[in-house]
Amino acid sequence: MNEVQEGVRARYADRALHMAKGGAGCCDGDPCCDETSTCGDGYTADELASIGLDATASLGCGNPTLLADLHPGETVLDLGSGAGIDVLLSARRVSPGGHAFGVDMTDEMLDLAKRNQAKAGVANATFLKGTIEQLPLDDAAVDVVISNCVINLAADKAAVLREAYRVLRPNGRFAVADMVAIEELAPDAKQRLDLWAGCIAGTISLEAYTNALRDAGFKDVDIEITREVHLAGVDGRIASAYLRARKPALATAAA
Ligand SMILES: C[S@@+](CC[C@H](N)C(=O)[O-])C[C@H]1O[C@@H](n2cnc3c(N)ncnc32)[C@H](O)[C@@H]1O
Repeated sequence: MNEVQEGVRARYADRALHMAKGGAGCCDGDPCCDETSTCGDGYTADELASIGLDATASLGCGNPTLLADLHPGETVLDLGSGAGIDVLLSARRVSPGGHAFGVDMTDEMLDLAKRNQAKAGVANATFLKGTIEQLPLDDAAVDVVISNCVINLAADKAAVLREAYRVLRPNGRFAVADMVAIEELAPDAKQRLDLWAGCIAGTISLEAYTNALRDAGFKDVDIEITREVHLAGVDGRIASAYLRARKPALATAAA
């Protein structure tokens, strides 16, 4: 595990233990949440009630399960599944006949997600340990890749996008909520691991994200800014965004 992954893992292990004791994922003893948080945005109380959770189970910045327009019978993969909120919602949406996978590198998050799955009584979901840079899934295994506020945390975004492309079937959809940079952060802020693990310092510009998706082989790249967030004491501007793309029907392996 590299230094960034270890810093991120430690932060989210801590968050998972806090949530397991009844604390909120965001904005509850977490300084980065005060002004930057978009956690829990985009979920209705009814859909959360359908899996026995509320918005405190979210550490995300949108609702990728809505963005992806999921259908019964589809297979979905959530990159960095955290407490499992988007996996469990996806599992409900692709039922009957479909399945939702979540991949996360943090044991404490995987334990929490599995407990939430048992509470929700969702059978068609599986949580797997692994990194999003090296996914524990076969080629062309899923119809849809979703993710919620995670790809910004990866130091090697090209590897993550190549892996997302690899595991998607031809014509598969990429539908992700993430933080992006509207205006680059100052170099000293980019070096700070605490800002990195807080979904800030690892953000890249819209142009860089678009190019990285295209380099991985994706087509029809579309990025929609959903909310700008303020950063006290940090120069630069970031925002939450929805990112959509598609693997071509006649797909070739990414370069
Ligand atoms: C900001 S939280 C988001 C959790 C979830 N997607 C949500 O919306 O609530 C980031 C999650 O991604 C996981 N994560 C971060 N970087 C990862 C990586 N490189 N590989 C696998 N999991 C990662 C963390 O362990 C954590 O559970």
